[in-house]
Amino acid sequence: MPEKNGTDGPNGAAGNGSDSSSAGGNGAKKRVAVIVEGAKAVRTQATQEIKALKHPEKTDLWKSMLRVKHDETPRSRALGVLSNVFLHLHPAKINRDAVAYRYTWGMGGMTFYVYITLVFTGTLLMFYYHPSKIVAFRDILYLEHDVPFGKLLRNMHRWGAHLMVIMVELHMFRVFLTGSYKSPRQFNWVVGVILLVLTLLLSFTGYLLPDDQLGFWAVTVGTNMARATPLLGHDGPFGRQLGMTPFNDVRFGLLGGSIVDANALLRAYIWHCVAIPIIASTFMVVHFWRVRKDGGISGPAPVMLESEIKEPRKF
Ligand code: HEM
Repeated sequence: MPEKNGTDGPNGAAGNGSDSSSAGGNGAKKRVAVIVEGAKAVRTQATQEIKALKHPEKTDLWKSMLRVKHDETPRSRALGVLSNVFLHLHPAKINRDAVAYRYTWGMGGMTFYVYITLVFTGTLLMFYYHPSKIVAFRDILYLEHDVPFGKLLRNMHRWGAHLMVIMVELHMFRVFLTGSYKSPRQFNWVVGVILLVLTLLLSFTGYLLPDDQLGFWAVTVGTNMARATPLLGHDGPFGRQLGMTPFNDVRFGLLGGSIVDANALLRAYIWHCVAIPIIASTFMVVHFWRVRKDGGISGPAPVMLESEIKEPRKF
């Protein structure tokens, strides 16, 4: 404590002789006591601050951002999820077994992850590629041999595309094995089939873009099949009767001409880089939204752990 008046302090005007020396001793003791007390207060405060670090949810900073109590009751945990802009995308409660990898194989999530990687690497590839008959193949050679990490970028995109096709099929296989196509998920199964077709179309349109022999002949064979489309192909059922010719049928529309040439390359590019990704992303959003609306991922009936079973109430 600070001195109350000047009499007992070392500079006190009233102190004299032995009295003054004993008063000086007392003053020193008091000052030591003050320092010890201060040190104790600092220690208590430091301990409290360290405790607060271990429990950040008790700090003012935390409470200013997250206003809901985060204790362990099911209600407040659910509120914590629902009132957070990022967490609310996830359901507040899920069936423990439905998210087990042994059940879902994580294939839907991984397909989506590969898709995002493909969008990213594809966007980077667009910086080096021109969809023109004159330079397309040269751009690919330039990417492979001269652009730093160009080969890696191209191969990430190509292998990613193969991987996505495999994963989407495995995902579909899992959904089939677990019977998740049944009611109420039949609509999402149909959305899934559309996503499968879009995934294959992405692969197919990407195939032509390097403008090499492989892609050229693959697209020649693929689009030749379109000649046999019922009603819309000039070789398909009722095509001729409806006036279809090689110059106005569905194949002509796909290629922008009657042969695989510059127009076909440009069309493949626009479908591959703009139209199909937009359509596929939209359907993916619908697909994920439906998973939530259909009651979350299907799964074995929820089970309770022995520790979760409550004793029946006694009256
Ligand atoms: C781009 C392609 C696709 C993506 C990104 C995708 C993504 C997902 C994701 C993340 C889930 C949550 C559960 C899980 O991971 O297994 C899911 C569920 C589901 N998917 Fe897909 N999917 C795709 C294609 C398909 C296909 C081709 C089908 C079937 C024809 C399909 C049918 C379903 C169904 C019925 C569910 C609900 C399953 C359940 O509740 O157990 N999806 N999908």
